[in-house]
Amino acid sequence: MQFKGRDVIAVKDFSKEEIIHILDEAEKMIPAAKGLTRLKTLEGRILCTLFFEPSTRTRLSFESAMQILGGGVIGFADPSGASVAKGETLADTIRMADAFGDVIVLRHPLEGAARFASEYASIPVINGGDGAGQHPTQTLLDLFTIRQAKGKIEGKKVILLGDLKYGRTVHSMAYALAMFDVEMIFVSPRGLEMPREVIRGLSSIGVTPLETNNLQDVIQDADVLYVTRIQKERFADIEDYLKVAGTYRVDLELLKNAKKDLIVMHPLPRVDEISREVDATPHAWYFKQAFNAIPVRMAILKLVLEGEGP
Ligand code: NCD
Repeated sequence: MQFKGRDVIAVKDFSKEEIIHILDEAEKMIPAAKGLTRLKTLEGRILCTLFFEPSTRTRLSFESAMQILGGGVIGFADPSGASVAKGETLADTIRMADAFGDVIVLRHPLEGAARFASEYASIPVINGGDGAGQHPTQTLLDLFTIRQAKGKIEGKKVILLGDLKYGRTVHSMAYALAMFDVEMIFVSPRGLEMPREVIRGLSSIGVTPLETNNLQDVIQDADVLYVTRIQKERFADIEDYLKVAGTYRVDLELLKNAKKDLIVMHPLPRVDEISREVDATPHAWYFKQAFNAIPVRMAILKLVLEGEGP
């Protein structure tokens, strides 16, 4: 397995064995992530975070992960404060990050932006979300969370609920779950179904998820309910958004029909798709999931910068 110098653009670029290795490395990062031990693994190395779209968890957890490993962080959270506002191209911004840092995390509204950036950078580029495309590091921490909660990923029944059309987390997640022989069910409002391109990609490897618009019909024997918000910012027409807004909601009433040990996950931010009353139930795993961003992103940074070994 060769991680040093690798870009992290899409889940599909990694084998199942490589994914498991990242999760195992993340496991080892937990004591440091919790502040119980100190590390200098990446001392003197610099992470450059280039965020052209809003972010709380992805940017802050990458920055925190880098600092826990002893490294430094530069970058911007809003392109209006960077030379992009003067008309600089993405390619030139990437060239600068390449000169000033050791690894780049890029979030950008255009699908394919991370892949494009990786062609201009000699240092590793990590995709922190490219439009409605992919969000591979979110998927790694999602898999880590399922394994933590359930002991294993294989054989579980996982519902992906919400905006499957524009949600990049579910695109990456679907490809990853397919590698783990998971029974997947896609539940979305009409018009926000999983893109046919993803369905075709899954069927080419022999995976055919059940697709439905009705959560009630499938909740009973699910092990994981992965909820997403409607990606309002990706709708060309606000009228189309208003037609689907508020059409699904996970609440105590719905969970009465679920398995006792069903875990509810969400990449966050949530809007109204998980009722606040669910937070206090053992089903709620979304805040633990958010914490897992730290050990998993620590493992990713360490692997792409240092590779294997102590
Ligand atoms: C997600 C994203 O940006 O795709 N957020 C995250 O990184 N945790 C999900 C979302 O914005 O809905």
